[in-house]
This record gives sequence, structure tokens and C-alpha cells, in this order.
Amino acid sequence: MLAINRKVLTLDEFTIQQLRDFPNATGELSTLLRDIGLAAKRVNVEVNKAGLVDILGDAGSINVQGEDVKKLDVFANNQFTGVLKHGISCAGIASEEFDDHIPFDDAISQNSKYICLFDPLDGSSNIDVNISIGTIFSVYRRVSEKGEKVVINDFLQPGIKQVAAGYIIYGSSTMLVYATRRGVNGFTLDPSIGEFCLSHPNIKCPEFGKIYSVNHGNFFRYTKPVQKYIDTCQKKDENNGGPYSQRYIGSMVADLHRNLLKGGIFMYPGTTDKPGGKLRLLYECNPFAFIVEVAGGKAIDGIRRILDIQPSSLHQRTPFFAGSKGMIGELEDFLTAK
Ligand code: AHG
Ligand code: MN
Ligand code: MN
Repeated sequence: MLAINRKVLTLDEFTIQQLRDFPNATGELSTLLRDIGLAAKRVNVEVNKAGLVDILGDAGSINVQGEDVKKLDVFANNQFTGVLKHGISCAGIASEEFDDHIPFDDAISQNSKYICLFDPLDGSSNIDVNISIGTIFSVYRRVSEKGEKVVINDFLQPGIKQVAAGYIIYGSSTMLVYATRRGVNGFTLDPSIGEFCLSHPNIKCPEFGKIYSVNHGNFFRYTKPVQKYIDTCQKKDENNGGPYSQRYIGSMVADLHRNLLKGGIFMYPGTTDKPGGKLRLLYECNPFAFIVEVAGGKAIDGIRRILDIQPSSLHQRTPFFAGSKGMIGELEDFLTAK
């Protein structure tokens, strides 16, 4: 018989335990995280049977970024929207898959203090080939008055204002990792009890690693300083531990999850054809910048700290470099060299 280790906390137990340190806390953030965990479990079930049911392939629509929407993107978007709408802690959402933000208009939601932004399915090009994909989320305290509908400015806050951010990786096991200012903690889904269990407490990103993650196919479209940095990754001499290893899955959740745990640098630079980069500031870069920084790492757009950027629109993109602090420092030497 399977012995359940009762020393292991579930996600709910952990978030409730955290509340004990804050007697005035309302528990709204715990409820929100529980809702997100529930949606994640539902998406996980669909991801696991993706090869079996007719959920693969294009849904036949094109999202606001002009990309094909896969059916699993739609399913995940519906699940996360649904739990947050029916929950009691979220006043409104913005998603990579919606053109505009969505205020929830019932009285309970309007009296909630948090708003949530998410990329419901990250790495969608990997769905059809059974490679890790993910969900990314970000939580802010609204700036508008409670009791009213949330407004666009609630969503256009710099990343430094995040209250929590996290991701779910649907991989060889499914994990939910989230950060608050107090730390980054990882929970692995135990399918035997259907609960996320604390498996990676207090995650810290090593100051240096040996992995660089970038789409090498775009090499000749990167700026000279970025090309030079990549060259250096390949030319590290044996006295410095030899060349770094290149690892790139194409799901930033998977690439950054690995680099967060093992140490490494993840890069999605601007290219000659897309100088503003590909990744979305609000749904992808801000949450990861927050997680990486709380874990001791660093995230920049090449010039600025990602978390300091004042967003001007929901779907704006940015070049993105994140990971081990020492490696981002090495990159910055190239970016700032005269
Ligand atoms: P999404 O599936 O949400 O559109 O995001 C995919 C992103 C990101 O996860 C990944 O790092 C990047 O696209 C890969 O892009 P390239 O194929 O251009 O390298
Ligand atoms: Mn994405
Ligand atoms: Mn997506």
C-alpha cells in the first residue's frame, strides 16, 4: 500500500500555514492560488490525454498576436478564466488569448482585491509532439477602488508591483511553482491523491550555471553584442569549466524551470526583423522576472530591469534575458561595452 508522507505539505496546507504569520491576512491570496491549482489539475488531465482525444490541432481561430490558437490553448484559457471568475478572490483577468482585460461584474468579484494575468498555455508548438508545456500567471493588487469594475490601469502596473507570480509545468511530472516576496516554492502533483505537494521548498537560483538557452537559428538576426556573448558561451576554456551547454526546448516554462533549478541563462533577444522581441511583458516576462529575482537571479530587457518597465499596453513584447545573476552580469558586460 502507498504510504503517504504526512510531513509533506499540500499546496493548500502550505498557503494556509503561511497565513498564520500574518494575523491580519484575509486569505484571499490562498484562495486564489487554490483556484489556480484547481485549473492546473484540470488542464493537466487534458494535457495527459492529448494524444488520445481530439483536442489536438488548430482550433481554427487566430489569437490577438496573429498566431494560430491550438485547442488546448482554448481549453486552458477557459479553465483558468472559469475558476477565477467563479472564485472569490479575483476582480478581473487579462490573458494572452483575449484582446482586452475582462472585469468580473458580480458583487463578490468586484469586492476582491486581486487581479490576475496569465498565459494559459505556453509552448503551444510543443503540444503535438509530447514535449513539456506550461501555464504562467501573475497576481497584482488592484489600484482601482474595491466595489467597482476593474480598469485597464489595474493591469498596466510595472512587474515590481506583483504580489505573486508562478507557473505550472506539465512535464514528466506536473509542478506548480510560485513566488511571493517571501520566497519561491515548488509543488509536485501527486496523482495518487490529486494534490500539489511541497517538493521544492525555498528555491534558489545558483549564481552561475553551465547552460545557455537561446534560439540558435536566429543567431545572425541578433545584435553584435548578443552574438559575441553567445560566442563566449561556446568558447569558455577548460580553466573556466569548458563551454556552456546549449539547451533550448521552445517552451519558456520548461527552459526557465530547468535554468532556475540548475543555474543558467535564458535569452529571447530582439532580432533584426522583430527588434522588440517575441515574448510578452505582462504574461510571460514579468512573472518570470519576479520568480527569478525572488530566487536570487536577475532579469533584464538588455538595458533595463524587466520589473521596472511601465507597461503601456496589455500585449506588448520585450526582449528578455533571465537567469543566474552572475551569467546575466557577464551578458551585461557585452551589452554595455563601447
Ligand atoms: P506561446 O506558446 O505562449 O505562444 O509561447 C511560446 C514562446 C515561449 O514559450 C518560447 O520560449 C518561445 O515562444 C519560443 O519561440 P521560438 O520558437 O521563436 O524560439
Ligand atoms: Mn507563452
Ligand atoms: Mn500561450
